[in-house]
Parts: sequence; structure tokens; C-alpha cells
Amino acid sequence: MRKALVIGNWKMNGRLAANEALLNGLSSGAECLSDDVEVAVCPPSVYIAQAASLLQKSSIGVGAQNIATQASGAFTGEVSAEMLTDFGCEWVIAGHSERRSLYGESDQDVALKVAKAVESGIVPVICVGETLEEREAGQALARVRSQLEAALAQLEGDQLASIVVAYEPVWAIGTGLTATPDQAQEVHQVLRQALNECQVDLGDKVRILYGGSVNAANADSLFAQPDIDGGLIGGASLKVDDFLAICRAAA
Ligand code: G3P
Repeated sequence: MRKALVIGNWKMNGRLAANEALLNGLSSGAECLSDDVEVAVCPPSVYIAQAASLLQKSSIGVGAQNIATQASGAFTGEVSAEMLTDFGCEWVIAGHSERRSLYGESDQDVALKVAKAVESGIVPVICVGETLEEREAGQALARVRSQLEAALAQLEGDQLASIVVAYEPVWAIGTGLTATPDQAQEVHQVLRQALNECQVDLGDKVRILYGGSVNAANADSLFAQPDIDGGLIGGASLKVDDFLAICRAAA
């Protein structure tokens, strides 16, 4: 049985004082969360130390929004896997559509990031998702399968089970336009089947999250779907009550 998982992607948001209020609110609110849901937040890298410190007494884990493919060296601006594990990072978002579209990350870049994360003991949250044009052209399922298969290219054997997948339709991110539970379930089912084709029973082990305008009002209906194991949450993860309500819906 897959344990529910909710991860907050703060994106490029936060200031020390506001983070302290948010993190303290999440930390105390997490005490009332069921053990049936695993929760983590991914702040900007400059705030990972603050998050790890303020969440250390809670059940909420900490992750990153990006990871370098290299171990160390002359790569200005990059943050390595070892730097992330120095601060207790357990998760890293890989292949987010914003990094693919705005910063030119290719499928190959994503595969290398996924491999670096897994070999460093960090769980990669592999993001896949189609654009509105691809959906309207009937290419959504092919697109997400292709992105997933490419992201796994550097993994083998037991490494494959050390991942989480997030389906984030590009047209639903930050738009308030959420995929319907049926739309999301259809894609999750295809992704799970693709994982099972990659390795026997892999799809049964790997958690697949939905991301794209999840909020306290729609979380229940999304998470009620059999192949949706939780959420990757953007805007709503910056509000204590909304994020905790989404976590409760996932439990
Ligand atoms: O990674 C999660 C993010 O892309 C979803 O953003 O604001 O639509 O929940 P949002």
C-alpha cells in the first residue's frame, strides 16, 4: 500500500520573517495530522537551513527545488546533492515544467538530475505534464509517458523504486484551472502502467502525485482517485491552513 504524500513547492517565494510564521504554523499543525500522510516542503535553497531548523521537531520533511548534475566545481550558481544532504534534504523536485520551459532543462538534464539525486540518497520528485496544445491535439498521454521514460533512463534495478512522480499539466499550474479528477486519474493510470512496463510491480510501489491548482476545496475529490497518491502543491503551500487542509485530505 502506498503512503499518501503531500509536498509543498514554494517556488521563488519567501522571506525569513514570513517563513518563520509559516514554518512554525506548519510545525504545530502537523501534530494533528494523521500518520497516514507524509508531508514535506521545498523552499528556495537559501531557506532550506531555516526550514530544516524550524521543522526539526515536526514530522514534516524538507526538500529542494533543483539539484546540480555535477558533484562539485566550477558551476556558478549551482547547488550540489551533498550541499542539500548537508542540510537534511530528503527530496528534490526534478524536471518541473517551469525549469523545462524557462531554463531550458531537457529530458536528458532531468535524467541526470534524477540519477544524481538517487545516488545521493535524495528522493527525486519527477515532474511530467503536457501543454494545453498537446492536450488539445490528443498528445497528452504520449507526452507524459515519453517524459517519464526519459527521466528514468539513467536508473536501473532497485534505484527505480527510489522515485516519486508528479503529474503536473502545464495548463493547470498557477492558473486556478485544475484537471478534473477523471482527467488526472486517466493520466496517473497510464503513468503507473508505464512504470509497470519498465519493471515488474514498479507502478504499484511508486507514488504518483498530482500538481496544478490543488486547493482545500478540490483536494478531496482529486485524492479520492485510486491512482492519485497525493499532491505537489504550489500556491496553496504558502498558506498554513490551506496546506494543512490539503494534507488532511490526502490522509
Ligand atoms: O510544483 C507544484 C506547482 O507547479 C503547482 O502550482 O500553484 O498550481 O499549485 P500551483
